[in-house]
Amino acid sequence: MRITQANWDTNFKSIRESSTWNNQVDQELKMHKIHMYPAKFPSFLIGKSLEYARKNSITVNSIGDIFCGCGTTALEAKVNDKEFWGCDINPVATLIAKVKRETYSKNILNKYYENIVTVYTNNYSEIPDYIVQNDRILYWFWPKQIEDLSQLLNAIKLIIPKGKYQDFFLVAFSNILKRSSKWLTKSIKPQIDPAKPIYPVFESFKSQYITMLRAVEEINTKVSNSPNAQIINRNFLRLNVNESILDMLITSPPYVTSYEYADLHQLSTMWLGYTNDFRELRNGTIGSIYNQSLNNLDIEGLDEFAIDTYRNLSNADAKSPRAALKYFIDMRDTINKSYSLINPGGMAVFVIGNTTYKDIYIDNAKYLTKCMLNRGFGEIEVMKRKISSKILSPYRDKRGKFSNNKNHKKIYSYEFVIIARKPSNG
Ligand SMILES: C[S@@+](CC[C@H](N)C(=O)[O-])C[C@H]1O[C@@H](n2cnc3c(N)ncnc32)[C@H](O)[C@@H]1O
Repeated sequence: MRITQANWDTNFKSIRESSTWNNQVDQELKMHKIHMYPAKFPSFLIGKSLEYARKNSITVNSIGDIFCGCGTTALEAKVNDKEFWGCDINPVATLIAKVKRETYSKNILNKYYENIVTVYTNNYSEIPDYIVQNDRILYWFWPKQIEDLSQLLNAIKLIIPKGKYQDFFLVAFSNILKRSSKWLTKSIKPQIDPAKPIYPVFESFKSQYITMLRAVEEINTKVSNSPNAQIINRNFLRLNVNESILDMLITSPPYVTSYEYADLHQLSTMWLGYTNDFRELRNGTIGSIYNQSLNNLDIEGLDEFAIDTYRNLSNADAKSPRAALKYFIDMRDTINKSYSLINPGGMAVFVIGNTTYKDIYIDNAKYLTKCMLNRGFGEIEVMKRKISSKILSPYRDKRGKFSNNKNHKKIYSYEFVIIARKPSNG
């Protein structure tokens, strides 16, 4: 549906579902699955956006993702032979994204892997202080797992010089951390699973390595080009954008108070030495409940739609509204900065869903669209697509409660794909 200043107040829920944007037909590349990441979007959205660009005569040589997460866009840009620029505040995200975007030789990987096995089996090294002295690591891991993980990390760093091959094995290491710990698997909140079995570290690493090697084999048969890519670990809102560089920006912004990315990646950030206190990494993370610092200047000029939602939240609960208000400010600034990053005549694709918080419906998609209109984006199209939650069961019993019974009513949730253009004279 085309949205303009005249009809922006349309109820987005009433927009007809778009079958074009609904489902992935082909299987995703194995490389997309080398590391778990919350709220990763489906890779076919990039191909669909490129198709949209072609139909609308938009030439796309460079693609960017300002919240690049684990690199879905980075990899798909490579598959489609496009240059890529990406950014994420989470160092684990940018590590994974870089590895997905890189090109690897299977023989070199195998050689490094054999050497890691030898050093892991034969060399004993002391557990480093930053691990022994970290209470959170002692909380999440059994002593034997700490010892084995330390040996493994030491072997990787000893054998492989810093660079893309070391990064590859660090990603493999990172993805076995949750399995090797007491962390309740697939939980979106960090919590201990008291009944969790102890999985041997090296077996998990070996099977993770094989999975990643298969991913490399597959991508090497399908993709031969490697256009330029730059992936940076930064807070997008703190970035100085001096020039436009992207023909197409495609991204899925965080939702208000949804995932605590810093908390969910704490095992990796601590083991890989990005921080001793993972809570530091909450700073600046959009949508985090801890990201609430405001000053009056920020609020000035904020769209009334955001202020209304803030008021509704304030009436419902005393604690959370500041975080929501901060989120609205951050999203407005995101849109303004994105505009500067896109070349005149280029396009932006935002994929975003709506949320309910303390029983208040938060229309993230509509707010984002309003910010785009305010900034001067044109030709705004909003598409509604169906999503099925991988975490919650989509089935509900007669009373509306979650159920695993497939005969019960299926409730779908939706998200929105918002496409817009920067005017050629913008
Ligand atoms: C919905 S996820 C993106 C997932 C991505 N599309 C993928 O497929 O992996 C949102 C991302 O925004 C990042 N993020 C949150 N605040 C940020 C900020 N201020 N600057 C840059 N990235 C940020 C989070 O770390 C998270 O990776």
